[in-house]
Amino acid sequence: MIRVLILLTLGFLEAIAEKPAAQQPTELQGCPAPDMCGNITIPYPFGIKPGCYLAGFEVICDRTFSPPRAFLAGDPPLFGDKWPPDVWSSDRTFMLTGNFHYSGTDAGMPSKIVNYTRAPLELLDVLVNQSKVRVYAAISSDCSTNGTNHVLFEQSIKLQPSGPFTLSANENTLVGVGQNVVATFADSFTGEEYSNICLSFLSSVSKARNGSCEDATGLGCCQQTLPPGINTTLVRFQHKNNSKWETYPCSYAMLVQKSWYNFSTEDLYGHLGLPKKYNRGVPLVLDFAIRNGSCPQENGSHACVSGNRTCVNAGNDQGYKCNCMEGYDGNPYIVNGCQGMHTTTLHSSN
Ligand SMILES: *[C@@H]1O[C@H](CO)[C@@H](O)[C@H](O)[C@H]1NC(C)=O
Ligand SMILES: *[C@@H]1O[C@H](CO)[C@@H](O)[C@H](O)[C@H]1NC(C)=O
Ligand SMILES: *[C@@H]1O[C@H](CO)[C@@H](O)[C@H](O)[C@H]1NC(C)=O
Ligand SMILES: *[C@@H]1O[C@H](CO)[C@@H](O)[C@H](O)[C@H]1NC(C)=O
Ligand SMILES: *[C@@H]1O[C@H](CO)[C@@H](O)[C@H](O)[C@H]1NC(C)=O
Ligand SMILES: *[C@@H]1O[C@H](CO)[C@@H](O)[C@H](O)[C@H]1NC(C)=O
Ligand SMILES: *[C@@H]1O[C@H](CO)[C@@H](O)[C@H](O)[C@H]1NC(C)=O
Ligand SMILES: *[C@@H]1O[C@H](CO)[C@@H](O)[C@H](O)[C@H]1NC(C)=O
Ligand SMILES: *[C@@H]1O[C@H](CO)[C@@H](O)[C@H](O)[C@H]1NC(C)=O
Ligand SMILES: *[C@@H]1O[C@H](CO)[C@@H](O)[C@H](O)[C@H]1NC(C)=O
Ligand SMILES: *[C@@H]1O[C@H](CO)[C@@H](O)[C@H](O)[C@H]1NC(C)=O
Repeated sequence: MIRVLILLTLGFLEAIAEKPAAQQPTELQGCPAPDMCGNITIPYPFGIKPGCYLAGFEVICDRTFSPPRAFLAGDPPLFGDKWPPDVWSSDRTFMLTGNFHYSGTDAGMPSKIVNYTRAPLELLDVLVNQSKVRVYAAISSDCSTNGTNHVLFEQSIKLQPSGPFTLSANENTLVGVGQNVVATFADSFTGEEYSNICLSFLSSVSKARNGSCEDATGLGCCQQTLPPGINTTLVRFQHKNNSKWETYPCSYAMLVQKSWYNFSTEDLYGHLGLPKKYNRGVPLVLDFAIRNGSCPQENGSHACVSGNRTCVNAGNDQGYKCNCMEGYDGNPYIVNGCQGMHTTTLHSSN
């Protein structure tokens, strides 16, 4: 009986799907097109309502904030003052931040934990025509309380294994800011260090220049490229003494969208000046792809449903992404989503 009902329902849905497509971009029946969370547009394959997103693309809209804030669906927030053994084992997407203490005399020793927070990643925006999203990432900091003692704040991100997201290697960079900073990039609190480090030693502040970190490299700011295909990260510092702690108490490190951060000598001074300046965090670019399938995708179910679109393999058996053909722009993941870029008015049948 249930089976019959399901078949009837499927037949009904097919009947709807076979109706001639509207001229305007349309999304799934019964789904807002496009959905909004506050002022953030949530285009398909992302969605808020059940049934309105592809697997892995669920967005939680938290309307207790004003304006509301959007998060990539993950486990509920977790907070504690001791690492639980399973903090890392969630296979959802999350950001983990920890507060620690260390002394410059214990170079290489683990830091002592004060407390940690695990929370879903907050969405800044969705760039569906580039198969990218931007999320807010926290800035890691290492602040001295005297010549040897430090308080640390470290940020780590885990992207769901075999989920849609990876860190965009082309569009992000590791940035370090400080009078004497060695920023490093590891794969997790427990895992291997990647070889990517960035260091800056500023002997005299008169040498420092404001502006792009590229111009200031080594003079209060440094940046380093990232390896491709990364799904877990930890941004931390090399432990060290800080004899200049009274003038330069804090160093910072962040994974951030390339060319977004502009170095300013004022960021070298004061306590946590940089995270206070960007208190929501800094933009980090994630690539997304549909993992189960590949191009060409004429066979079976596929996500590139718009006309005038192309399918692009994401590489390394990582699935595929959809693009609008050259001269077209919009959302290749919805019917009629790709529209000619030079038309000033859209044709409308009603
Ligand atoms: C949303 O509004 C906030 C300020 O309320 C603004 O900073 C942000 O850029 C806006 N985001 C978008 C996607 O328009
Ligand atoms: C830091 O300073 C302490 C005491 O001044 C010294 O014993 C220690 O070797 C120094 N550590 C490093 C990594 O330089
Ligand atoms: C966690 O530790 C930081 C740094 O010591 C502190 O500022 C913060 O208040 C602590 N959070 C809670 C909820 O105890
Ligand atoms: C993609 O969409 C954004 C925002 O809607 C727009 O600014 C941009 O020109 C579009 N095209 C490309 C290729 O990024
Ligand atoms: C730094 O502070 C810690 C704890 O407050 C203290 O034990 C240590 O002796 C101090 N070190 C220096 C070099 O002042
Ligand atoms: C992601 O994580 C999984 C398991 O943690 C790993 O096997 C995989 O190689 C990682 N990389 C990508 C791109 O999925
Ligand atoms: C950089 O900009 C800050 C803030 O505008 C200013 O106080 C500082 O003097 C500038 N530094 C240099 C080297 O121009
Ligand atoms: C940094 O400077 C560039 C170029 O002037 C600008 O586009 C960008 O918005 C600046 N970044 C911030 C965070 O203000
Ligand atoms: C991929 O996953 C989606 C959602 O889970 C499913 O609807 C679709 O049939 C799958 N496609 C393939 C080719 O496995
Ligand atoms: C699609 O189907 C054709 C014919 O059935 C087959 O030759 C081709 O290999 C299939 N392609 C994929 C990607 O499965
Ligand atoms: C592609 O765009 C052209 C003109 O913009 C339109 O006439 C055509 O129907 C579109 N093709 C598909 C498959 O939607």
